[in-house]
Amino acid sequence: MKLIAYIAITAVVGLTSCMQMEPPQEVDFVSQVKPLLESRCLECHQHQYVCAGLNLETRSLAMKGGRSGPVILPGSPHQSLLYKVLLLGHESPVAMPPTPDGLEPEDLKQVHDWIKQGAKWPDKVRLVPPQEWKTSQS
Ligand code: HEC
Repeated sequence: MKLIAYIAITAVVGLTSCMQMEPPQEVDFVSQVKPLLESRCLECHQHQYVCAGLNLETRSLAMKGGRSGPVILPGSPHQSLLYKVLLLGHESPVAMPPTPDGLEPEDLKQVHDWIKQGAKWPDKVRLVPPQEWKTSQS
């Protein structure tokens, strides 16, 4: 009997600690998603080099999407092509980025959570392609 009581108590304590988990943090586009997209995606998805018709420089262009249509569905990362291409294995010709070094699991989570939380992207925030980093910084 004692053992059963012990198990019951541990289960209750376990549940309580689960309920006390931190609420998920809101992803900040400017500090967390923008640097990632700029360094890993903008090289090929910007006005001078628009791969697959997808320009990710501004919110409105990104929301318009590429040749397959919209790539970001706010609230639904798993329906968003922009997130789905990141999950593809490197053997796929459409895996993004096309270089062998894929995104880190933490980066994937940022993109996932950002889309899940509504893909907030302030209108004024413009992404800068790596090709323009030098000129924009000097
Ligand atoms: C080296 C260049 C390059 C980089 C870097 C790159 N892409 Fe791409 N992207 C392409 C090319 C080329 C295609 C077309 C692939 C195909 O279908 O043949 C493409 C296609 C896509 C598509 C499909 C668009 C559509 O409408 O069909 C998405 C979404 C996408 N890329 C997102 C990204 C994201 C997100 C990143 C950064 C993590 C990224 N890409 C980095 C070259 C690149």
